[in-house]
Amino acid sequence: MSDRLDAPEDRPRTAIAGGLSARLLFLTVFFVMLSEVLIYVPSIANFRQTYLTSRLVDANLAAMALRATPDQAVSVELAQELLDAADVRMVVLKREKTRSLLLGEDTPPEVDASFDLRTEAPMMMIMRAFESLIEGERTLLVVGGFPDASPGFVEVILDEASLRAAMIDYSINILQLSILISLVTASLVFLSLHFLFVRPMRDITAAMIRFREGPENAGNVMPPSTRADEIGGARRELARMQREIRAALRQKTHLAALGSAVGKINHDLRNMLATAHLVSDRLAASDDPDVRRATPTLVAALDRAVALCTATLDYGKAEAPTPRLTRFRLRPLVDELMEHVGLDAESNVAWLNDVAPDFEVTGDRDQLFRVLQNISLNAMQAMRYDGAFTVSAEREGDNAVIELADEGPGLPARALEHLFEAFAGSARQGGTGLGLATARDLVRAHGGELELAKSDETGATFRITLPAGR
Ligand SMILES: Nc1ncnc2c1ncn2[C@@H]1O[C@H](COP(=O)(O)OP(=O)(O)OP(=O)(O)O)[C@@H](O)[C@H]1O
Ligand SMILES: [Mg+2]
Repeated sequence: MSDRLDAPEDRPRTAIAGGLSARLLFLTVFFVMLSEVLIYVPSIANFRQTYLTSRLVDANLAAMALRATPDQAVSVELAQELLDAADVRMVVLKREKTRSLLLGEDTPPEVDASFDLRTEAPMMMIMRAFESLIEGERTLLVVGGFPDASPGFVEVILDEASLRAAMIDYSINILQLSILISLVTASLVFLSLHFLFVRPMRDITAAMIRFREGPENAGNVMPPSTRADEIGGARRELARMQREIRAALRQKTHLAALGSAVGKINHDLRNMLATAHLVSDRLAASDDPDVRRATPTLVAALDRAVALCTATLDYGKAEAPTPRLTRFRLRPLVDELMEHVGLDAESNVAWLNDVAPDFEVTGDRDQLFRVLQNISLNAMQAMRYDGAFTVSAEREGDNAVIELADEGPGLPARALEHLFEAFAGSARQGGTGLGLATARDLVRAHGGELELAKSDETGATFRITLPAGR
């Protein structure tokens, strides 16, 4: 195609960073990380709970080992070993009403915070877990029930530092795992979307570009797809559209070639007819009365032939020029028109201009004149210059609606079949069938519409709708 669009936005983007795949990759990583964070909050609280509970269990075991000794007393070294094994600084067991310090330094350390694991609500657990992560250096007193749920409680004093260290280890593990999971998930999502979606999209875009650059080449039409999904649908629709465009293009090319051939023939024909016209003028001066009698018919036929050639040539020229819009009063134009539709002293036409004096339309005055002229001329010819012809105009919303009504016999069926089609719509002896086609082209170039509003034995009415054209 001649007018190729090569603006930057028309060129395909292949850069990875801007592509769909990269965006999907980043989004997937982001979402997986987000869900990991959401999972992390309760699980770190749960980790703290488990850690503290196992300290209580270990402390209980250490205390039980102590109780197994005959006098319930061990050396300072063994006591310290037992405490270290449970990773606590002091253990207190309370069964029934007796409260007994079993293991630990003689003077209990000063406690910064104490928690009772038996009554901690989930939200409290989460808050305390983050507190430990932030503070990290306190001495904690933790109270919990016995593992066998017997009455009483276990109390331990421990350093928050080891809890925090364990929590940080756990967090790092979770972070590493999250990164691994999100990378694996993102890669899977990326690969599946790439093969299911992005690559077919690129194929489609490439096919569009190929077709745009060479629509004449049948090889540039998208190959058919067997996919049953939306992408398959898009490919099939694209292939169909390309086939249709190719067919239309072929037809247009042929028509254009035919049109220029007709143009050339027409041009030469008009010159030949002009010569014949000159010769026939001389025939009028002939001495032979038969020749003189035939001459006017011959001249009229030649005139019609020349008019046909001229009209065809005009139509064949490029499309109607863009209307030069002005705002003007319609009534004077209709008055002017009256002198250009072949009315003479013998004709018996009542020309009724019903347009309000201040009614204005927006449009190209010369083009609209031609439109109205074609329609009125048809009406005069149909009425054989006898009857009333009315032009009226009114506003419908933003549009100006102009109606031209005659009292002729209405349109013959032959004309109705191909009305508004160039060369095909004529049902009149000597008609070219260009009048209404040209008129409609001109009105449509204004963004308006020309239609046949009424046609019966009492007459025909044509309606022109023109937009306000602000
Ligand atoms: N007001 C009308 N009343 C009856 N028939 C009409 C009227 N206007 C148009 N027609 C019919 O429609 C046909 C098409 O009109 P159109 O103006 O397109 O072509 P034409 O008048 O035959 O030729 P041209 O205008 O190119 O010289 C006419 O031949 C005529 O039969
Ligand atoms: Mg006509």
